[in-house]
Amino acid sequence: MIPRFKIALCICITGLAAILYSCNSSVVPPATTARTPEDTLAVFTPPDTSTIPNTPFGELVRYGRELIVNTAHYIGPNGIVGKYAGNKLNCGSCHLDGGTRPFGFNYFSTHANYPQYRGRENEILSLGQRINNCVERPLNGKPLSLNSREIIAMECYIKWLGNSVPIGGHVPGDGALELEYPNRPASPENGRVIYQKHCASCHQPEGQGLLKPDSSSYQYPPLWGMNSYQSGSSTHRVLKMARFVKANMPHNIAKWDKPVLTDEEAIDVAAFVNDDQIHPRPGKPRTLVYPDYSRIDVKPIDYGTGPYRDTFSEMQHKFGPYQPIIDYHKANNLPVIF
Ligand code: HEC
Ligand code: HEC
Repeated sequence: MIPRFKIALCICITGLAAILYSCNSSVVPPATTARTPEDTLAVFTPPDTSTIPNTPFGELVRYGRELIVNTAHYIGPNGIVGKYAGNKLNCGSCHLDGGTRPFGFNYFSTHANYPQYRGRENEILSLGQRINNCVERPLNGKPLSLNSREIIAMECYIKWLGNSVPIGGHVPGDGALELEYPNRPASPENGRVIYQKHCASCHQPEGQGLLKPDSSSYQYPPLWGMNSYQSGSSTHRVLKMARFVKANMPHNIAKWDKPVLTDEEAIDVAAFVNDDQIHPRPGKPRTLVYPDYSRIDVKPIDYGTGPYRDTFSEMQHKFGPYQPIIDYHKANNLPVIF
């Protein structure tokens, strides 16, 4: 832990951009090889929960898993531990199967890659701070104390899950599916049709989701509206969401190696869900310690708020076409970040 932190910090100080980006897994796509059905067996298999040890560490691992799967019960708006999250999403609404599903925003190599340089904050964040980012943004809440039993438990679970991944390493199935980008802007209008056909039955016609009968949390989480994730969340980015959707939605029907949507359909439906002209959602957290992207050269390609180091509009960054932006970045020695 400590040497990694020191190395990363030292690299950041030297400002050697090329090397600096290599300490951020969201900059360099993981060397994931599994892409076809034949590769399915090569995907990382996390340990079975029955192997969680009966030790004080194991107790925390179990509690951490509970918190990630049943987040609202513990830290939701009526949480028994405290009212931290501002909505009733669970971590597991996005980090599918408790963060164990290939290409489902899993935690396979998370512990192996934290602390990590984060472009958004232009800082080294610990795993606990990164968890709080998700409490603040997708859960629209306020951060927990980094010394709380809850943060430590979630860290322990994420460590246990990825314990066999070497420090700084990546495994097949982590990160996101790669997509081919259409040679046109993403179309929220096409996305609306795809949404009605493939998503509305669960996420509901107005994107509001469906609460469980006891209202404790969601059967189907909302995709927009004031009970959904904030505009400061990664999920609010079109490509970030499209990659997840292609691999995982419709839920339990699509699989990363058996997708239902084409790349274009996944991008269009993500554009529809994340179009701020049609769908309101909560704004960015009020408690920002660091301004977002004080260094504009580390903004992801599909980040919809300028300014940028390139010449493309906010509209094009958000909705594409993305390839000209990527080509421009490569030609001008600017990083290509997703
Ligand atoms: C609305 C969706 C959503 C919810 C809810 C959510 N997250 Fe996230 N989380 C994301 C996305 C998107 C990322 C970025 C993943 C990526 O870049 O591949 C992320 C990233 C993370 C990471 C960094 C993973 C890595 O390997 O870099 C951690 C840790 C994390 N989330 C923990 C949590 C925890 C714990 C909760 C609940 C307290 C939570 N998240 C709730 C969407 C969500
Ligand atoms: C069969 C029901 C079903 C269908 C159809 C479905 N989803 Fe989901 N979706 C879910 C469930 C359930 C979850 C949360 C998983 C969990 O809690 O384990 C989810 C989670 C999500 C999430 C992450 C959580 C959030 O609130 O942002 C996104 C994004 C999403 N779905 C998008 C889509 C899109 C886009 C479609 C259509 C292409 C779709 N889903 C179709 C059931 C469905």
